[in-house]
This record gives sequence, C-alpha cells and structure tokens, in this order.
Amino acid sequence: MKTQVGIVGAGPAGLVLARLLELRGISSVVIEARSRDYVEQRVRAGVLEQRSVDCLTEAGVADRLHEEGMVHHGIELRFGGQGHRIDFSALTDGKSITVYGQQEVVKDLIAARLASELPLLFEVSDVSVDVDRPAVSFTHDGSAVELECDVIAGCDGFHGICRDAVADHLTVFERVYLFAWLGILAHSKPSSEELIYANHERGFALHSMRSPSVTRSYLQVSPEEDIDEWPDERIWEELNARFALDSGFSLNEGEIFEKGVTPMRSFVVEPMQHRKLFLAGDAAHIVPPTGAKGMNLAIADVEILAAALESFAASGDESGLQSYSEDCLRRVWRVQHFSFFMTSMLHRPENQDPFEAQLQRAQLDYVCSSEAAARSLAENYVGLDRV
Ligand code: FAD
Ligand code: DHB
Repeated sequence: MKTQVGIVGAGPAGLVLARLLELRGISSVVIEARSRDYVEQRVRAGVLEQRSVDCLTEAGVADRLHEEGMVHHGIELRFGGQGHRIDFSALTDGKSITVYGQQEVVKDLIAARLASELPLLFEVSDVSVDVDRPAVSFTHDGSAVELECDVIAGCDGFHGICRDAVADHLTVFERVYLFAWLGILAHSKPSSEELIYANHERGFALHSMRSPSVTRSYLQVSPEEDIDEWPDERIWEELNARFALDSGFSLNEGEIFEKGVTPMRSFVVEPMQHRKLFLAGDAAHIVPPTGAKGMNLAIADVEILAAALESFAASGDESGLQSYSEDCLRRVWRVQHFSFFMTSMLHRPENQDPFEAQLQRAQLDYVCSSEAAARSLAENYVGLDRV
C-alpha cells in the first residue's frame, strides 16, 4: 500500500490533518487503534477557540458545529463567595469561544472522511513506524500491511507509539501535578449561561455544558481518587459547596451519565520531528486542561503541518517541513504557560502554604480588577492569532 502521508491516530489531530490534505489534493491513509464507536463516544475537551472554529469551517466540516455549538463571549471566575465576569468580546475586539464536544468534532470529521471515500482504518494493531524508509506497518482485518509513504504524521496521542519510536532524538520537558479532575456529564440544564471556574478552599471546580440540557462539570480531586467513592449525591454536594455564592446559588441537578478521573500534566518534546516523522497534538505535548487548550493546540499543529506538506508536495520545497517544530513550539510554549497560569491560580494544593494562598488570592483579585490583567487572560483564552 502506498500514500503520500501515513497518519497514525484518528483523534482531532489526525482527522483534521487528513481533511486539510484532502482539500489540498494530497493523499493520506489514516489508521486508528480503536473502533469507530469508541473514538466517537470518548468524552474529552469542549472548548474551541475562534481560530479552531475558522479552521473547521474552512475545511467544510462545521455545519453541525454552527448549528449546535454554543458561542460564549466570556467566562466567570468565582472565589471568596463572589462571581467576576471576564468579558472576552469587550477585551479582545469581539472574539468568542464555542462550546462543542470534542467527540462531536471527531464524529463530523469521520463522517466527512467516509463521505469522500478516503481510507480510514479502525481497529488496527501491531503498529510500528520506520522513519528511515519511511513506512508504517500494522495488522488490519487479520492481514499484515506495509504502508509506504513520503511522510509519517504521528497523531497517536500521549500513549501512542510514534514518539517512542524516535525517543532517542527528543528532549522531554515535563511537570506532573498533585491533583486530577473528576469530570461528569449530567442531564441537567446549565446553571449559568457561561462557564464558571471556581477557586474554593475545598478545591477547584468548573461548570461547563454540552447543550441546553446537558452539563459537564469538573472537580479537583487527588490523582489516586477512587471513582467508586463518588456516588452522585456526593458529587452534587461537593459541586454546590465549591460554587457557593454569598448571595446564594445552587446548581440544577440531574442524572449523571458519565464519570471519569483525568490526571493532569504538562509535557513537551523537542523537536516535534525526526527525519520524515512529524509529531502533532498530544503525541508531542500535553497541557493541563484548565486553559481549555488541548484540542486547539492539536488543530494548530496540523494547520502548520498541512501548509508545509502542501509546499513539499507541490515543488519539493522542504523549508516548511524543516521549520515545522520551531513554528509549532512557539504556540505550544505560550499555551503551556497560560495553562500553567490558570492551573496555579485556580487549584488548591493539599496543605497549601498560607503564603502561596495569599499570592493566589492577590492574583485572582488583580485579574478581576485590572483591565490589563483581564485582557491578558482573555486574549490567551480565546486564542492568540499570532505567537
Ligand atoms: P487523541 O485525541 O488522543 O487522539 C490520538 C488517537 O490515536 C486516539 O484515537 C488513539 O486511539 C489513537 N492511537 C493511539 N495509539 C495508536 C496506535 N499505535 N496506532 C493507531 N492509533 C493509535 N483537553 C481540554 O482542553 N479539556 C478537557 O476537559 C480535556 N479532557 C481530557 C480528558 C482525557 C481523558 C484526555 C486523555 C484528554 C483530555 N483533554 C482535554 C485533552 C484533549 O482531549 C487532547 O488534547 C486532544 O484529544 C488531542 O488530540 P490528538 O488528536 O492529539 O490526540
Ligand atoms: C471544558 C473543559 C476544559 O478543560 C475547560 O477548561 C473548559 C471546558 C469542557 O469540557 O467543557
């Protein structure tokens, strides 16, 4: 089997790349370890920056996103029993974010790929990459396949095999946090029009949504937290405690139909390429979710990769491919910093040092009282056009 670009992984990075290449007349084969059903049901991120929405719109895969996505013009920061709105539109010349589940983005991209009758193989196994030839080998439907390609795109997430295949040539930068997020989906009406990020002495909490009748909420918990210790009543009680307002507040409750604990880390490898293997998305970097950036960063990487591959395919010009890593890493590190900033400002480490607690409160007060500080948060949250 032969193609121009062998894409390993059908998450947002692999599927957006495949679509951008299709529109540029470049052939690709996408291989995915999991089933179609599994990747379409996997609950993860929910916030799209304007530039991600623009990318999906230009790629012709955003009809449902525009119909069902919820456009938000601000967020609330809640602490000390008070809510404070950060007005994105006023602070960033009218920019907004769109709340639309990652698995919905994935469903739309898979539907488009299949409608174009282009290769997308689910449930492959024994995947390995040879970066010298280059080629990708795997088993599909019981048969061993060798996919010869000009370039390999490693879009196989944090636990994939592509990064490991070139590990000897990479430097790792990493930070692991002492807390995790317990995330739920519930059949309940959102309790606020916008997302609420709460810093409370019992820990961080986030109120988000998926539709006018489904909410997504998160609680800061320990990374070793046992989900069985969290029956629904305890989750609602804890969420209500952390979102409490002096003026009174209670969440709209409903049936919880999905629960999971996600560990948090910051992780970057440099460079994001070796020979003809290019890493994109979580395969190359992880951000803690507080800045809502994981999926957006994956899309930003593959926009750069698609443009570089277009020049390479058209004229053999390798300059874009050579600078791929450098071009991506500027945004990756800006977003790492923003995600670290949001995480540090909003979470309460166990046994928090009283000095650090005062610094955290001073930072929150500053962001909510200084227009310059609020603008900095807003422009990073909605996504910087240029980095
Ligand atoms: P992925 O979505 O991980 O896609 C990689 C794909 O490669 C997967 O489908 C995987 O099955 C496949 N794969 C792996 N190995 C192989 C192989 N050997 N061969 C073929 N295919 C392979 N971000 C936020 O902003 N907010 C959140 O709330 C949030 N929650 C998250 C919850 C969890 C549990 C996780 C893991 C991530 C979360 N993120 C969140 C991060 C965000 O979802 C990711 O940044 C985003 O999925 C990155 O997309 P990707 O395509 O790079 O990787
Ligand atoms: C969601 C996830 C995030 O990590 C975040 O910062 C905001 C919203 C969500 O899943 O809706």
